[in-house]
Amino acid sequence: CGIVGYIGYNDTKDILLNGLEKLEYRGYDSAGIAMLDNDDINLFKVKGRIAALRQRVDDTTAATMGIGHTRWATHGGPSAENAHPHQSTSGRFALVHNGVIENYQELKSDYLGGVDFGSETDTEIIVQLVEKNAEKYQDTAEAFRRTINLLKGSYAVALIDKEDRNTIYVAKNKSPLLVGLGDGFNVVTSDAMATLNETNQYLELNDQEIVIVKRNVVNVQTLDGTFVSRKPFTAEIDVTDTEKGTYPHFMLKEIDEQPLALRRIIQEYQDEHDHLKLDQNIRETMKVCDRIYIIAAGTSYHAGLVGKQFLEKMAGIPAEVHVASEFSYNMPLLSDNPLFVFISQSGETADSRSVLVKIKEMGHPALTITNVAGSTLSREADYTLHLHAGPEIAVASTKAYTAQIAVLAILAVDTARAKGLELDFDPMRELGITANAMEVLTDQKEAIDELVRDNLGTTRNAFFIGRSTDYFVCLEAALKLKEISYIQAEGFAGGELKHGTIALIEEGTPVIALATQETVNYSIRSNVSEVVARGANDMIFSMKGLEQDTDAFVLPEVHELLTPLVSVVPMQLLAYYAALHRGCDVDKPRNLAKSVTVE
Ligand code: G6P
Repeated sequence: CGIVGYIGYNDTKDILLNGLEKLEYRGYDSAGIAMLDNDDINLFKVKGRIAALRQRVDDTTAATMGIGHTRWATHGGPSAENAHPHQSTSGRFALVHNGVIENYQELKSDYLGGVDFGSETDTEIIVQLVEKNAEKYQDTAEAFRRTINLLKGSYAVALIDKEDRNTIYVAKNKSPLLVGLGDGFNVVTSDAMATLNETNQYLELNDQEIVIVKRNVVNVQTLDGTFVSRKPFTAEIDVTDTEKGTYPHFMLKEIDEQPLALRRIIQEYQDEHDHLKLDQNIRETMKVCDRIYIIAAGTSYHAGLVGKQFLEKMAGIPAEVHVASEFSYNMPLLSDNPLFVFISQSGETADSRSVLVKIKEMGHPALTITNVAGSTLSREADYTLHLHAGPEIAVASTKAYTAQIAVLAILAVDTARAKGLELDFDPMRELGITANAMEVLTDQKEAIDELVRDNLGTTRNAFFIGRSTDYFVCLEAALKLKEISYIQAEGFAGGELKHGTIALIEEGTPVIALATQETVNYSIRSNVSEVVARGANDMIFSMKGLEQDTDAFVLPEVHELLTPLVSVVPMQLLAYYAALHRGCDVDKPRNLAKSVTVE
């Protein structure tokens, strides 16, 4: 979702609409703006995109302040009613919100009995609470502060009051929000990109801060009302891509960006008729190839293992995944019409490139899936699919992995459709649900941190076990943990453990098990019993619907083909907190490099 707010002397409508257009990749199923004009709030909301909102907005308004929002549905489906801004019952307040309010049910029953709600969103409770508190305290700033203090969850919020044309009230926790500074005006935005035309001077907000924004003054305060002084920074093009902002590490920022990256992929790979949008040449090449050879290294290799399943199960094409450095020297017998798919975040990995050079000499077609447009692997392959994950800066790859899996799913579905195969799977819908689930998970950092403190504190080693798709995620989970925390970690197929590695299980050895697949839920739990009987300290991460009381963590439910996209998030966070508590350099782990350009 995206937020834009403006208070100044110029025409608000265009500033809001232009800003929202830039944020559309963050969500575009509904949108709205509220502007204060002649002591009245003019509200326009539509289901659909900003272009539809633009047509709807009345040209006659001459408002000089307002707020706008572009939405990706979380609570309540996409509709004009559920679109933001939301208004309080009397119409006095209008509010936009990004994030998820976790305690909205309790707040509703504790404080808002008898209130007639106009939407199904968690957001509306905020604006209704402001109205309740404003009646009580007769002061909007106080009502706003008291309301924000009640919220649990993630929020970036902007509020306007019909009775005060000189203020936008802003608050932030976990969801990004910036205040942009101008001469005689100020802006509010969830991404500097949206308002770069107005200003390049921004105030970064910390979690649990409130800002009172007027035309010539911006007042930042903590939730208890203490004034905070903050210097602005200069936004160079898209500052949020290359700066940590208020994050302590790029890795944490990039973990949090995963739902966003997924939504951007959905937008980039879909045309205006909601059809999948892929280069026709890629489509044709996929149709005629008789076997796919996926070549990659590290985390990208692990994404390839998941991708192989999509290609075989959905597109009906046999696929093999190869570690790039091995393939060069130990090439398997190739099929008659092979297609090589290179997966690489950086597009620069030398091991992969050496395979590319070889297979091009042999005359085979190549497709690169990469996060870096114009990279070597992209330039030298016949075709490229972009990840659109934004720059990944932490050495340990996170958002590129999930983006790779999402793009591979889209590629597989597109191919299946091109081949006329029956498929009961709507990729954009399922990826949208998955993005929301990921957001729920990135909001649960404290729970994962606690698991790490309780179970991985001083351990020398750790094992990750899973079956089927979960096994592939275990490989990635183990890689993440060893890369940045230096705990010796291994991922194993649940059934294989007893054929040797179980010898390493001692009293207290952490064994983390993934249980997201119904078909193997029983058998992976048997494997957990086997290690527990030998003293292991087990932690089961199960999918909603498959959980048992003793499980350490329950993941929100998504389509069974897409479970790696959610199960990997707590695994990334486990690695992050384990590294953090051991005092490791999270973003720049020892001995590693982000992009390895030597073989
Ligand atoms: C390096 C990085 C890994 C990464 C691998 C492949 O080893 O440390 O995190 O997975 O390269 O990188 P690529 O850019 O090709 O995905």
